[in-house]
Amino acid sequence: MGDRQNQNQRAGAMDLAKVVFFGRTGEEALQFFDLEWEALKGRRLLDCPGGPGAFTALARRHGVEVIAVDPLYGLPPEELERQALADIGLHNERASGADHLRPDFDLDLYHRGKRGALASFLSDRRAHPESYLAASLPELPFSDGSFDLVLSAHLLFGYSPLQDGGLYANSPFDLAWHRRALAELRRVSRGEVRLYPVHTVSRPARLHPYVEALLAELPAPWSGRLFHPSYDQGFEGETPGLLLRRPGSTAHGVSAEGARP
Ligand SMILES: C[S@@+](CC[C@H](N)C(=O)[O-])C[C@H]1O[C@@H](n2cnc3c(N)ncnc32)[C@H](O)[C@@H]1O
Repeated sequence: MGDRQNQNQRAGAMDLAKVVFFGRTGEEALQFFDLEWEALKGRRLLDCPGGPGAFTALARRHGVEVIAVDPLYGLPPEELERQALADIGLHNERASGADHLRPDFDLDLYHRGKRGALASFLSDRRAHPESYLAASLPELPFSDGSFDLVLSAHLLFGYSPLQDGGLYANSPFDLAWHRRALAELRRVSRGEVRLYPVHTVSRPARLHPYVEALLAELPAPWSGRLFHPSYDQGFEGETPGLLLRRPGSTAHGVSAEGARP
């Protein structure tokens, strides 16, 4: 462990030192994106990064088309499983030693959910490999406006450098990278982009400092606002998501006004 990481560990910060291949359940994703299946029927969604998460698998069962993108999807299934299990272990070790989560948060239960999500992901990917594409932000292999709704969770903001409120000491995901990644997510969307979370990895959590700059720079006709899902992953404080929309678009049938202020 390097000096810098030692300092961060002493300060109670969580340095994952890499982006973990770690995925939430489909129900968690629906909750943190503040969505409902009924409103998504007939829409085409992008989930980037998909990780070993179960959103695409669960969406399929609800008749909703999702394309998941992640740089690691080119790996064989046994390597994806090995990586995901190792990263659940790494996350458990680092989160247990950090102080950003509420002491009453049940990390064991949380990680059991991630193992369940991994099993659904592996089985859905085996049956439907065409739904899982290997690619990386900030460059996606889709033409403009390919999706009704673009979703992105637990990469932007969370993996920014430690000093900016993220959990990655030597992160390449600085503000300049966020500008490019967000522009790419907007480019492939016909009308709406939702990101979660957009807060710091700290106790209490605060709105991530990049959000204000990115909102101020949004090109017309896009507009943005925070939304506040009820999802709980152990933080206290301010834990919003960010919704970007072209005014007037009915991107996926749930109006932006439907998102809680
Ligand atoms: C913590 S997981 C989040 C997965 C899922 N969205 C969720 O909320 O559970 C972060 C994912 O980002 C992927 N990733 C890393 N660099 C990326 C990039 N440049 N573009 C897209 N995805 C990336 C990793 O492979 C990893 O699967």
